[in-house]
Amino acid sequence: MKILGIETSCDETSCAIVEDGVRVLSNAIYSSAAMHNKTGGVVPEVAAREHILKIVPVLDDCFSKANCTIDDIDLIAVTDGPGLLSSLIIGTQVASTISFLKNKKIVPVHHIIGHIYSNWLNVEEKIEFPVLILTVSGGHNELILMTGHNEFKIIGETLDDAAGEAFDKVARILGLGYPGGPLISKAALNGDSHAFKLPLAMMGKENLNFSFSGLKTACLNEVKKYVICHPEFISGSTMSKEQSQREMLKQVQHDLTLSEQFKNDLSASFQETVCETLSSKLMLAYKKYPNVKEVHLAGGVSANKRLREVIAGKLPAGVKFRNPLEFSFCTDNAAMIACAGYFIYQKNPKKYKSRTNIVAHTRFEIL
Ligand code: KG4
Ligand code: ZN
Repeated sequence: MKILGIETSCDETSCAIVEDGVRVLSNAIYSSAAMHNKTGGVVPEVAAREHILKIVPVLDDCFSKANCTIDDIDLIAVTDGPGLLSSLIIGTQVASTISFLKNKKIVPVHHIIGHIYSNWLNVEEKIEFPVLILTVSGGHNELILMTGHNEFKIIGETLDDAAGEAFDKVARILGLGYPGGPLISKAALNGDSHAFKLPLAMMGKENLNFSFSGLKTACLNEVKKYVICHPEFISGSTMSKEQSQREMLKQVQHDLTLSEQFKNDLSASFQETVCETLSSKLMLAYKKYPNVKEVHLAGGVSANKRLREVIAGKLPAGVKFRNPLEFSFCTDNAAMIACAGYFIYQKNPKKYKSRTNIVAHTRFEIL
């Protein structure tokens, strides 16, 4: 069975062909991330315009890489939410149009369920349930117990920002660019992770929820302290100290004033704090649910090598720990959506019809 996956929930336009749920025949991805570098984050209108321009070429690309045509497709799977509404609409409308024109069945897929299924892609052996999953992306951060296909229970979640959002914002404060995750981890390679003592939030023994907004503020405070400690900027200025700080922070974003060592050290300390927080919460969940057969890491931040290393080091030997097999399966991509669509469809094939209009939404709750 060949499934066409379509994903446009944020700044990646992606179309993929996946066979029998797990075998990736193609996974074409265009990212407009470089266009959001100036703004240090995604501007929804800009992302949506890029999806409109790129969706047809990306669709063509996914068919040619998989060496098949639209007529060979048995099922369409599309992300219907949550995400940026103006971006989601492009993918859902393209999927619905194909469903009407070619009489194809269509399955709407929750974006986070898509990320969860990234750990099935190109995996040959059978994955055993129950699975404990830590999903860490730019918009969401959850601990999930998966007891079967399309059966989920959220056991912990972020009460404010997701870890990926914190990576992006700290990178912005440091003037590193967007997306922050890969840039922070690169800077961290030359930094001292003990240079700054940053807060580990909500570490109570029973608490499986997360909070990352305090960590973001703590990093901003370190930058402010750095500004104050550098009188060469403030002296000679006719501005008040507060105005100087504000100006300094503006300039910081243009990479004018912070030393490389400071950026590297704060990146390393921040990354280590995030890894320590996420891995401790995952271990707490593992202790609470010791019967799980596997532990999975999913979402854009699962691309972080240090996070993988820290988690693998804490889990008891013999526990099956998976990350997506390719880095392109970690961040937003349509192969994971096709995979999720396949397993969701298999559970209830009669529910899904051809000639269906899928309506995009921003709700998270359907998990
Ligand atoms: O899952 P994703 O592609 O999009 C959402 O669903 O939000 O995740 C994007 C997030 C961004 O915040 C990005 O900075 C982060 O994943 N990310 C990383 C790395 N690669 C991407 N964070 C840490 N380390 C990385 N190597
Ligand atoms: Zn995502």
